[in-house]
Amino acid sequence: MSDEIGETSDVAAGDQERHPLAMETLVSLCASRGFVFPASEVYGGINGFWDYGPLGVELKNNLKAAWWQHMVRERTDVVGIDSAIICHPRTWEASGHVEHFSDPMVDCRKCKRRFRADQVEGERCPEAPRKRALGDCDLTEARDFNLMLQTQIGASVDAQATAYLRPETCQSIFTGFKRVRESSRQKLPFGIAQVGKAFRNEITPRNFTFRSREFEQAEMEFFCHPSQRQEWFEFWRDERMRFHREIGFDAGNLRFRPHESDELAHYANAAMDVDFLFPFGWQEIEGIHDRGDWDLSRHSEFSGKDLIVTDEETKERYVPMVVETSMGVDRTCLALLVNAYHEEELEGGESRTVMKLLPSVAPIKVAILPLSRKLAENARALHADFCRVMNASYDESGNIGRRYRRQDEVGTPFCVTYDFDSAEDGRVTVRDRDSMEQERIPLEGVVSYIRERIEVAG
Ligand code: GAP
Repeated sequence: MSDEIGETSDVAAGDQERHPLAMETLVSLCASRGFVFPASEVYGGINGFWDYGPLGVELKNNLKAAWWQHMVRERTDVVGIDSAIICHPRTWEASGHVEHFSDPMVDCRKCKRRFRADQVEGERCPEAPRKRALGDCDLTEARDFNLMLQTQIGASVDAQATAYLRPETCQSIFTGFKRVRESSRQKLPFGIAQVGKAFRNEITPRNFTFRSREFEQAEMEFFCHPSQRQEWFEFWRDERMRFHREIGFDAGNLRFRPHESDELAHYANAAMDVDFLFPFGWQEIEGIHDRGDWDLSRHSEFSGKDLIVTDEETKERYVPMVVETSMGVDRTCLALLVNAYHEEELEGGESRTVMKLLPSVAPIKVAILPLSRKLAENARALHADFCRVMNASYDESGNIGRRYRRQDEVGTPFCVTYDFDSAEDGRVTVRDRDSMEQERIPLEGVVSYIRERIEVAG
């Protein structure tokens, strides 16, 4: 059996002392509450692949919906697409991935494991168990190892049928640029956005979902005149930070990190990361890149199709410049969970774990809790009313305090308790997750009341 199978990612790696939340705590909560857990878990997992459970899929969908709203729906100069995961193989020759998308790797002939060359110091495997004597490692020279995952198309297994699972979602935006611009009657400057899966055969998947082999990206390519590239780079840089603040990240957990010239991607003229402070240190969740005219020029060259635009007024013909925003959906979900995680001491020596997620991203917006099973019929009717307009949960098991704790732990902003007085006085108790304050609200109108509170909180 390969080392990759039956082994989940190294979640404990990194310098955890810098952050009060230990990754193991979050990983364990994510698995036990159904946010995220190892893919194919019954077989021991598969390294670098993760499944999102009932709460995780809601969180992720909320994040993607917020991004789509911000980047596409609220703008007249950005349109969306949803392209195929498998592109024509020439796409990846044009993009430079066949030639450049690789890491130098070293194999150990003894333990049969592969390591990134920059992680190997001297003659030993980085993970050589202390019990193995120094001489026991037998390392090869560093060789380039392409990070694209391959697949075969059709019945034949010859090289002609080899295709790649896309390592980034943006290339179809470039190959579809002319079609999308013409069909949507967009004039420059304008952008094309999409959200979708990407695949990279990462050598060392690690830190939970942070570095996975299958993940999602939310990317937007903005096409502009060469004279406007700096202006649009600055605009999108600030706009993306505004988005991250709007979905609830604390300012102190975010920073910009400009790329040094020697770390720029082969196509990029300028790049800026949005970093988040994870328990394992500051790490990128999004990149904003000035890609110049690299992509359109290359696809023009490799496809033979003219991707030049003509300015209707000046008649100038030019290859548009591209400013890209590229957010990792899984990394941002992970960052949202880290950012939201709180442990609080309560009066009476009790404590609680509470996910302070903004209502807009919280998987469950409201939980309906009948004080007794005898009140189930009315409480279920109320739950059905909520379900028509928002994701609502229903829970009648355990004492009310324990039920509040369960909802706190998964970030549900409001609980509505239906009690023995509710049928008489037509009121229910609404409990606020963060302040834990409770108020009696008329049953009629409680759905609109919660809706308004959610809108105000964001
Ligand atoms: N089109 C540009 C591009 O793909 P990138 O910096 O390689 O740029 C963009 O990736 C974002 O995708 C990163 O900021 C990160 O959030 C996410 N990402 C990249 N590799 C990832 C991986 N192995 N696992 C999870 N997310 C990843």
